[in-house]
Amino acid sequence: MGLVEVEGLTKRYKWRVAVEDVTFYVEEGRVTGLLGPNGAGKTTIIRCILGLARPDRGHVRVLGETVLGGLPPRVAREVGYVPETPEAPPWLTACELLEYLAVMEGMSSLDARVQARRALALLGAEDFCGRRLGGLSKGERKRVLIAQAFLQPRSVYLMDEPMAGLDAEWIAEVRRLISEATGGEGAAVLLSSHLLKEVEGLASSVVVLKKRVLYRGGVEDLLSKLTQARKVVADVDDAKRALDVLRAKGLKAQLVSAKRVEVLDADVEDVVIALKGIVRIYGVSSARLDLEEAYLALVRGEGGG
Ligand SMILES: Nc1ncnc2c1ncn2[C@@H]1O[C@H](COP(=O)(O)OP(=O)(O)OP(=O)(O)O)[C@@H](O)[C@H]1O
Ligand SMILES: [Mg+2]
Repeated sequence: MGLVEVEGLTKRYKWRVAVEDVTFYVEEGRVTGLLGPNGAGKTTIIRCILGLARPDRGHVRVLGETVLGGLPPRVAREVGYVPETPEAPPWLTACELLEYLAVMEGMSSLDARVQARRALALLGAEDFCGRRLGGLSKGERKRVLIAQAFLQPRSVYLMDEPMAGLDAEWIAEVRRLISEATGGEGAAVLLSSHLLKEVEGLASSVVVLKKRVLYRGGVEDLLSKLTQARKVVADVDDAKRALDVLRAKGLKAQLVSAKRVEVLDADVEDVVIALKGIVRIYGVSSARLDLEEAYLALVRGEGGG
């Protein structure tokens, strides 16, 4: 069970299935990573949790309440949301936007003034208070929208690629804010990303998605599963030719350069046998995949479609 429960969620846009039979929970005091490539369905799931999109099958519960076409106001106040694209009315100043949102959440105008400035300060954005959002850079605007999620303490944070577009300093700060929210306040955080390294060291569990769930479980288990993966590296005189031959034999080959191919889930021997007499082989060896490569192999290789 969790503060957010997604069960058997299926979402179609007209005839296109965006998300199919996805189940996971976001638990108190934990960060859950929602990982997947572009178009995997991350934003769709977050929109379903917020009630902005309606599931075709399955259901979503937030703080025990079933979400049907929107979050009940009591629950909505407990949810901090960072949208994927930092879009906001360009004519408003950062403080106008945040104060307006705070009042809509039920704060008095005095509290709203105080909390808007406090939240901006968390993101080093206090100087943007009187500046129009249209005149801020993309990363600066993103920081204002992240600040908005921290207007008051929340039980649940839904963050759709919050690090995308931020510089290294602010990625580190946002990571710190997220771990404080889960550590100190015991919030449940759902953090989407298409990069494993963004959730590594922060999330305790992950859902790897490509329309369907490819992996769900502990980060440590995923890392140990992934780092066992190996690849065969072949240096040849004509890598393009080698690629065609290997793929024709059903091997998972990819081109690295004009003279190098890599093959996943294969033995050195298989590769040598496949290439012998067809291209000139300079060398074939086996190597470990680095983490990001192994993750890519997982999301490329399986399912979705
Ligand atoms: N409003 C929409 N109408 C039609 N199809 C949509 C709509 N929104 C999303 N889709 C489709 O649903 C699928 C999932 O999209 P979604 O935005 O959830 O992916 P994502 O994992 O957030 O990707 P990204 O990493 O690019 O943000 C995609 O195939 C996309 O084309
Ligand atoms: Mg998205």
